[in-house]
Amino acid sequence: MQIRLKVSRYNPADGQQAARYSEYSIDVAESATVLDSLLQVRDYEDGTLALRYSCRSAICGSCAMRVNGRVHLACKTKAAAVARGDSRELVIEPMGNMPVIKDLVTDMELYWAKVRQITPWLLPVTQPEREFLVPHAAMRDLSNAMNCIHCGACVSACPVLEVDKSFIAPAALAKAYRFAGDPRDGHHQERLKELSSVAGGIWDCTRCNMCVEVCPKDVRPMDRIMQLREMAVEAGITGNIGARHTNTFAGSVRRLGRLDEASMLPGSVGFWNVPRLLSELPGGLRMLRVGKLPWTHALPWHKPIAGIKHVRRIFDSVRKQQKEASK
Ligand code: FES
Repeated sequence: MQIRLKVSRYNPADGQQAARYSEYSIDVAESATVLDSLLQVRDYEDGTLALRYSCRSAICGSCAMRVNGRVHLACKTKAAAVARGDSRELVIEPMGNMPVIKDLVTDMELYWAKVRQITPWLLPVTQPEREFLVPHAAMRDLSNAMNCIHCGACVSACPVLEVDKSFIAPAALAKAYRFAGDPRDGHHQERLKELSSVAGGIWDCTRCNMCVEVCPKDVRPMDRIMQLREMAVEAGITGNIGARHTNTFAGSVRRLGRLDEASMLPGSVGFWNVPRLLSELPGGLRMLRVGKLPWTHALPWHKPIAGIKHVRRIFDSVRKQQKEASK
């Protein structure tokens, strides 16, 4: 099978300011992975190509890179499955959100700094006298989070990190769930408090689902972040904008059967937080002008939707199920 590789090349040691692309047309087996193809280039076409890999079995997490704009493990991805068009083109670039050291090799210090930030080890209250037996169900719940191989794919794809480098990001937050949800850990409350209040914590995820889509190990980091949010709210850690935003949203749906846009800002930042409310006033006025905040919604007496009793019945039933599930 003939494929065309367009590979991002960058070597700051040569004084290069920006990446350029090198193109290679090669013949590979139908079953060849992206990594096989790159190794063929490195071994037979251009020995200066830098890439990172080790296990070639989707275990070590070394070979994550972007292929045609989407991050993949190169050793787990067949070239034929992702090649584009009649020329079977693959544009290969290093992971995003991390500085590039050379060609396809990124500096993962940012990644590891975030993992270190969440205290990635168990903190038992006391040393158990004998082996601590963990309920099977608890370990099953943690198994997704424990599958992480630290490849960095989720961090590469995270759009929040693109604009806010303080965001702890999906991989480290999934790792945080692995410890906050472990019955052997004795510092759940402290962990949840920290993750709720720190800049870039659990409430800064925008739920775009990108981390879930690209994770090669089905860790589903965004779902783990949502579990952390639920745990924090259940633990009564609600004195922050994120938790208040969620509660105001849910309260609005139960009260009116729809979102009450006008109550979201004061409900989230606090009704008496006058400086913050005033600072957001121009944005609110713009929303009113373009119809994103219908003026009737700004009135305190607007009515619930028809059939609100059904919405409330569903709402209360879900709440009850959630409470029973968390017992
Ligand atoms: S080389 Fe180890 S995960 Fe791809």
